[in-house]
Amino acid sequence: MTTIRPIVKEDAKRIAKYANNREIWLNLRDYFPHPYSLDDAYGFVEMVNGPGSNKIFAIANEEAFIGVVGIHPLTDIYGRTAELGYWLGEPYWSKGHVSKAVELMIDYTWQETDIIRIEAGVFDYNPASMRVLEKCGFYEEAIRKNRLIKDGKICDEHMYVLLLPIS
Ligand SMILES: CC(C)(COP(=O)(O)OP(=O)(O)OC[C@H]1O[C@@H](n2cnc3c(N)ncnc32)[C@H](O)[C@@H]1OP(=O)(O)O)[C@@H](O)C(=O)NCCC(=O)NCCS
Repeated sequence: MTTIRPIVKEDAKRIAKYANNREIWLNLRDYFPHPYSLDDAYGFVEMVNGPGSNKIFAIANEEAFIGVVGIHPLTDIYGRTAELGYWLGEPYWSKGHVSKAVELMIDYTWQETDIIRIEAGVFDYNPASMRVLEKCGFYEEAIRKNRLIKDGKICDEHMYVLLLPIS
């Protein structure tokens, strides 16, 4: 079973073990460290449990931490929009964990926050992440050409969006 729960200090070793992976770093923004040390993991645990508007959770299976999912609400006039992000330890890929975790994160967002728009920017070489978002009901709003540079390469960003359903 896949769940989401708060991130605790005891997760730090597994965070460092799985986050220290170039295949994960390649799909995330450059503030995600590489290599990823145990100190980075402790800093991350402190950050997510500190003040601020991040709502970031552990993805866990029956046994332990396997990844991270979270939303980051934007500010100013974009304050009712949140960016969605996630990564999963490579041994657990392609078993449906992130699709389930994103579904849970969507429920949390609609029920516990005033966010009305969730968006995720996916690098053009990451079809698995696009598939996760499509399975969770997101639509592709735009392809933002040449929007980013990662690992020295210029890439397009696929902007996926989910709007609060009108009841
Ligand atoms: C992308 C990532 C989050 C996917 O997590 P996951 O738990 O493996 O995803 P799921 O198993 O829920 O779903 C993956 C889907 O993508 C599909 N997929 C996997 N590789 C694919 C590929 N190369 N091309 C097309 N589809 C692919 C899977 O078949 C599955 O779809 P299906 O259920 O219809 O068969 C995970 O691989 C990861 O952490 N990658 C590195 C970090 C990252 O990319 N974060 C997101 C940044 S936007």
